[in-house]
Amino acid sequence: MQPVDTDSNLEKREGKSFVVSPTNRKKIDFLLDLEDGFFDINKENKKNYDGNVLKEELMIPPSDLCSILGTTLANVHNILKSNGIKATKIGSRTFIPSAEVRRLLQIYGHRYAEEIISFICTKGGVGKSTSSHTLAIRFNQLGARVLVIDTDQQANTTTAFGINEGQLYCLIDIIKGDIDINDSIVHITPNLDLIPSNIDNSALEKYIHSNPGRLDLLIMEMVKKIKTNYDYIIFDCSPALGLLNSSILMACTRVVLPVNPNEFSLNGAAKTLLWIKDITTHFRSRTSTEINIFLNRHNASKKSSDEYLKRLNTHELFKNFILDSFIRENEHLSRRINDSQSIFTEHKSSPAREDFDLLAREIMGLKYPPSSMEKSQ
Ligand SMILES: Nc1ncnc2c1ncn2[C@@H]1O[C@H](COP(=O)(O)OP(=O)(O)OP(=O)(O)O)[C@@H](O)[C@H]1O
Ligand SMILES: [Mg+2]
Repeated sequence: MQPVDTDSNLEKREGKSFVVSPTNRKKIDFLLDLEDGFFDINKENKKNYDGNVLKEELMIPPSDLCSILGTTLANVHNILKSNGIKATKIGSRTFIPSAEVRRLLQIYGHRYAEEIISFICTKGGVGKSTSSHTLAIRFNQLGARVLVIDTDQQANTTTAFGINEGQLYCLIDIIKGDIDINDSIVHITPNLDLIPSNIDNSALEKYIHSNPGRLDLLIMEMVKKIKTNYDYIIFDCSPALGLLNSSILMACTRVVLPVNPNEFSLNGAAKTLLWIKDITTHFRSRTSTEINIFLNRHNASKKSSDEYLKRLNTHELFKNFILDSFIRENEHLSRRINDSQSIFTEHKSSPAREDFDLLAREIMGLKYPPSSMEKSQ
């Protein structure tokens, strides 16, 4: 047993004396050290990512285009041929690279929107990272140029993309001006980029708080430099409604809230919606942000799941924002992400694949066949 009442263990704070045990002394010293160097954690070890994760361009099978173009597989093949779309053979199967999908959909009148999308909800574990990661991959497969910015210190999306190194440049380094945003970008695969996260981002709230400036411009100015390089910039946010997320919200064109079929999640979504309305009403002058809510982890075997879906579709607070698409509970989705893979980087059907495909297309405005399609059939 260590002595606790010697002079060396006496600590004076705000005029009062405290007895501090050696164990607690160590903890306090550690926290004070951390506080002193809070914004410079391992700064000297920071580096750019020098690996390449997925390397190859993402591709889709022609069958994925049937419902987008509203036609049969045989006709999709005719369309590919008549438009000179270059397909790639892997074994006996045909795939269309992302850039060629882009070219085809543009021929058919699709315009890739310039969007900044944030996945925000104060409730944790509802599927923000899962959706950011899965939709980013699907958007890219459907021809979009995508950047994902992982802002959450948990770095789940970063890990999902197969990046496990802790000391890569991340959002806080950009905001502090230690690195140019362009130099923090990791190229995952052609036209799919990531600004990774790590534990250093835990200091972001405190940094923003102690460096007062225009909160509405902080993220907006940051993305301005790279905006035209992408169709979609996706922010995966931590489960909080703090300064950082406020700044992200003020920069984005669309905010997406995943909701799970349970009461806590609905409460979290309601609080987040009120916060969004508050921020966008009081702090924003330019065009309004589109708000989307979707149900994630729907389980058809539970009556309550349908009841929650119904409540979302009819409740005054939610009904104007709810998307048609919802995502079913699917173990395979979770397993793929835990293995730093995606349901879209394997060519195997699954309920989550179907659901996320519809969700991606609903957000991209690719839900219905383009009108010019009729002419080409
Ligand atoms: N449709 C689904 N079916 C099965 N598991 C799912 C589904 N959606 C998400 N999950 C799982 O739920 C867990 C939480 O998801 P995720 O990490 O995406 O939530 P989050 O909102 O980002 O959490 P946090 O608030 O902590 O950042 C993960 O283990 C994920 O694999
Ligand atoms: Mg997350």
